[in-house]
Amino acid sequence: MNLDLVKDVGPSVAEKLRKAGFCSLKALAVTPAKEISERTGIGYETALKFGENARGLMGIDVLTAKELFKLYIKAKRVTTWSKSLDDMLGGGIETQCITEFIGGYGVGKSQICMQLSITVQLPEEEGGLNGKALFMDTEGTFSPRRVYEIAEARGLNPEETLENIMYARCYNSDHQIFMAEKVFEIAEKEQVRLLVVDSLISHFRGEYVGRENLVERQQKLNRYIHLLLRLAEIHNLAVVITNQIQSNPNVFFGNPERPAGGNVVAHASTHRVHIRKLKGNQRVARIIDSPYLPEQEAFFKITERGVEDS
Ligand SMILES: Nc1ncnc2c1ncn2[C@@H]1O[C@H](COP(=O)(O)OP(=O)(O)OP(=O)(O)O)[C@@H](O)[C@H]1O
Ligand SMILES: [Mg+2]
Repeated sequence: MNLDLVKDVGPSVAEKLRKAGFCSLKALAVTPAKEISERTGIGYETALKFGENARGLMGIDVLTAKELFKLYIKAKRVTTWSKSLDDMLGGGIETQCITEFIGGYGVGKSQICMQLSITVQLPEEEGGLNGKALFMDTEGTFSPRRVYEIAEARGLNPEETLENIMYARCYNSDHQIFMAEKVFEIAEKEQVRLLVVDSLISHFRGEYVGRENLVERQQKLNRYIHLLLRLAEIHNLAVVITNQIQSNPNVFFGNPERPAGGNVVAHASTHRVHIRKLKGNQRVARIIDSPYLPEQEAFFKITERGVEDS
């Protein structure tokens, strides 16, 4: 459906909206008015009205579960190239939601992200989405050489593969948010089907140190992760984030190791996957939180060919 259908949105306003990345009714319908206003320069009250009118046109104020199910069927999946991981994830990494890989140093979070940046490019019948990846690197650990190596080992054209990965090095949390907003503008045009944020919160943790800054940090993180979620929904993207394990020395009972980011990340992440090292290059992944995937384990290994079944 077209933006121009929204009451009071004339051609020039529609153009303004489109330029800021609001290319569809849905984008207008689900984005908070404050954000529409900030990104377009349109007044808050007007943005509020646009949002309401767009929702009215789409009839999405209330959905039946059947309609919701139809939306869900539109969600697609990207293969990890490990059958075991794919099965655990219900067929691969899902679009329209956030999949979070959690684990300590060297468990393979970045390896999985780099590999998904390759597999998303495959045609659908081979488990891809025939699209590009956008890799947001907050730690400077993305390795084009490694991508080249994996693509070559899998019989793909490594140069072409690299060509289809858009790379953004994010230097601080503001930059990270700015880049996510940019994705709204380029996702459709560039056929981006996978967005990676590796890692989600290292900058937030580094910049907001101490208890006195915790509330501000969590609020900002909350806005950011909801921005990612909207990107996933509006553009039918797979969003993959990585997260570190935080050990809490004050916990005497239960597991002292928990994902960083607290409730904010826990609530916004759709599927949470915890990865642990086993012997040598062997790894085990486990779903720790998901609205419908059972708590299951998957075994895989990391080799020169990338991530594959054990
Ligand atoms: N070319 C390769 N051949 C085989 N294994 C590799 C290769 N490159 C990386 N690895 C494996 O991947 C591991 C690193 O994984 P990765 O960088 O994804 O960890 P991570 O979970 O992102 O860690 P961090 O939290 O430090 O970012 C290495 O320890 C090694 O076991
Ligand atoms: Mg990493």
